[in-house]
Amino acid sequence: MTSDDLLARHRAVLPSWMPLYYAEPIELVSGSGRRVTDAQGRSYLDFFGGVLTNMIGYDIPEIREAVERQLRTGIVHSSTLYLIRQQVELAEKVARLSGIPDARVFFTNSGTEANEAALLVATNYRRSHQILAVRNSYHGRSYAAMGVTGNRSWSASALNPLQVAWLHSGERLRGLLARLDEADRIDAAAEDLREVLATQTAGDVACLIAEPIQGVGGFVAPPDGLFAAWKKVLDEHGILLISDEVQTGWGRTGEHFWGYQAHGVTPDLLTFAKGIGNGFALAGVVGRADVLESVPAISFSTFGGNPVSTAAGNAVLDYLRDHDLQANAARTGAILADGLRAAVAGLDCVAEVRGKGLMLGVEFVRPGTLDPDPALATRVFEACRAGGLLAGKGGLHGNVLRMGPPLTLTEDEAREGLAILADAIRSCAAEVSG
Ligand SMILES: Cc1ncc(COP(=O)(O)O)c(C=O)c1O
Repeated sequence: MTSDDLLARHRAVLPSWMPLYYAEPIELVSGSGRRVTDAQGRSYLDFFGGVLTNMIGYDIPEIREAVERQLRTGIVHSSTLYLIRQQVELAEKVARLSGIPDARVFFTNSGTEANEAALLVATNYRRSHQILAVRNSYHGRSYAAMGVTGNRSWSASALNPLQVAWLHSGERLRGLLARLDEADRIDAAAEDLREVLATQTAGDVACLIAEPIQGVGGFVAPPDGLFAAWKKVLDEHGILLISDEVQTGWGRTGEHFWGYQAHGVTPDLLTFAKGIGNGFALAGVVGRADVLESVPAISFSTFGGNPVSTAAGNAVLDYLRDHDLQANAARTGAILADGLRAAVAGLDCVAEVRGKGLMLGVEFVRPGTLDPDPALATRVFEACRAGGLLAGKGGLHGNVLRMGPPLTLTEDEAREGLAILADAIRSCAAEVSG
């Protein structure tokens, strides 16, 4: 079977709105560590990890063995109607690590469902379906999660069970607050929140949902401290804060275990997904007991937190902490960020290299302007692939190259990937200007 046959079969039977990366899409057939091999036998260093999800890497013995141990018991699934030892153990760890006092955890299968659950409990707790969300956000693909997603490309329906008012993200490059210094941007964003509450809501808003660094939005980050400035205003009204840590969690930002910690504030609810299962379907919401307990009916998830995915989750979390991967993310992320900044110095088609730890983006623009250049981003993205490196793409305008490698990335691999990235960016930039 060639990849071409598979591509034709894919196109014949799967919906076209589910995009494939690359002009010639890739079928990955094996992986080890940070490397994957495609059906043609080509090997790649993986700087995207299945969208920041293969957080530990491929074929990690400790995780494989934990899953195999669970499989050998014969219990792949039991439903949450029965006690699941692995689930209770993981919930204890997540509750402790969350930083939220007396926390409860509810497991789901995806980030979308985790955000649905967070919105469910917040709206019940506050008896309000008014929500604050942030421009350029992404929270998932159900009606409620899409309803709080501030990105036209991912907003596939106007149907919305919630009443949503939109805040400025506080980003540096674009929008009304752009180019203000950090302190002024925080003040302006907090002022924007006050104005939105006064003009677009009935006051009794349930929650604000926000990503500490916007993932799909192109790794756009507000200034550190903005969540605290927002929370000060929210607290005046009893409005809850949900931190969507689906991309920023588990130490990926290097400096902290959760993205929210850069802001000096603790959210009421935190949602997690992607990396915790290292590829097994595992996600959830952790939050204040009184908020999590505010579901006035029976609610459960058939597969959420099942024995196999939570066996993986426990092994992932133990591995992450035993190997201090947060420190590794800081170390290898610095090699990448410094190297990328040096590589793009003087290139007027790069507006910014940004991000934290192993969550780094490069934004491409038409030379000398801030006009997005998605075509250039795509060229660089394809050139990386040709050079043996898998990266990601994103941003409101599709003009941001995104790097989110496994947190086990070695320093040598960081330098190897950096060289491919720098070559790809320089050669594509030369074609644009030349
Ligand atoms: C910040 C954020 N929240 C939620 C989601 C939705 O997660 P899932 O695709 O697992 O439903 C994503 C997915 O990319 C995400 O990046």
